Amino acid sequence: MAPRKLAAGNWKMNGDLAALAEIDILCDAHGAPSCDVLICPPATLIHAMKARIGENRIAVGGQDCHARPSGAHTGDISAAQLKDAGATYVILGHSERRADHGESDSDVAQKVSAAIAAGLIAVVCVGETEAERDSGQTLDVIGRQLAGSLPEGANASNCVIAYEPVWAIGTGRTPTTDQIAEVHAFMREKLAASVSDASGMSLLYGGSVKPSNAAEMFAIANVDGALVGGASLKAADFGAIIAAL
Ligand code: G3P
Repeated sequence: MAPRKLAAGNWKMNGDLAALAEIDILCDAHGAPSCDVLICPPATLIHAMKARIGENRIAVGGQDCHARPSGAHTGDISAAQLKDAGATYVILGHSERRADHGESDSDVAQKVSAAIAAGLIAVVCVGETEAERDSGQTLDVIGRQLAGSLPEGANASNCVIAYEPVWAIGTGRTPTTDQIAEVHAFMREKLAASVSDASGMSLLYGGSVKPSNAAEMFAIANVDGALVGGASLKAADFGAIIAAL
């Protein structure tokens, strides 16, 4: 099975009900896209966004979930609750969660297990810091994060990987196409050791993807789509990225 092409937007802690007007614009232009399209808004918007999308072929996802199915975890959201609200995906292990909330690879793996158990597709994020790249540790870091963040049972149907170099997020800086190709080839090879259908797993690139560089990113071997932050907030920009895939 060839990997599915996926254009995914991560709204992070941005957006309110008024911002759903962008979804109407996106649905008008890209309601029946030729690739998979996903938007992960703040949890407060999942249900309303899903309702707004209606029959259009755009999926909605969460940005995090708790590892447990329910219980005394004030402020947290379970994978089943995301699903109940209309989500079919959830981003896990984003570098902002790893940095702001001290999430370890093992924390991420437990959340991925919970997501899979609830029937969600996990978008599992990995990526090196600038210091790690400068000291030649990129592939070691990616290999360690992949091995530690994917639980048993992870496969091409229930997980997508997003390579997001921390230093490229929101900075306007991107790795060279050779650097992205190197990491994606490494991930494909590394996954083959632990995932039976690794050749069919979608590998996204994330970090300062915008309309002007999307086509170049999507032409790189083993890049099956993008996880887009800032440029996913405006339908015109995200639509141009979808069109490039
Ligand atoms: O998850 C997507 C993200 O971290 C990349 O953000 O704004 O650089 O596209 P941005």
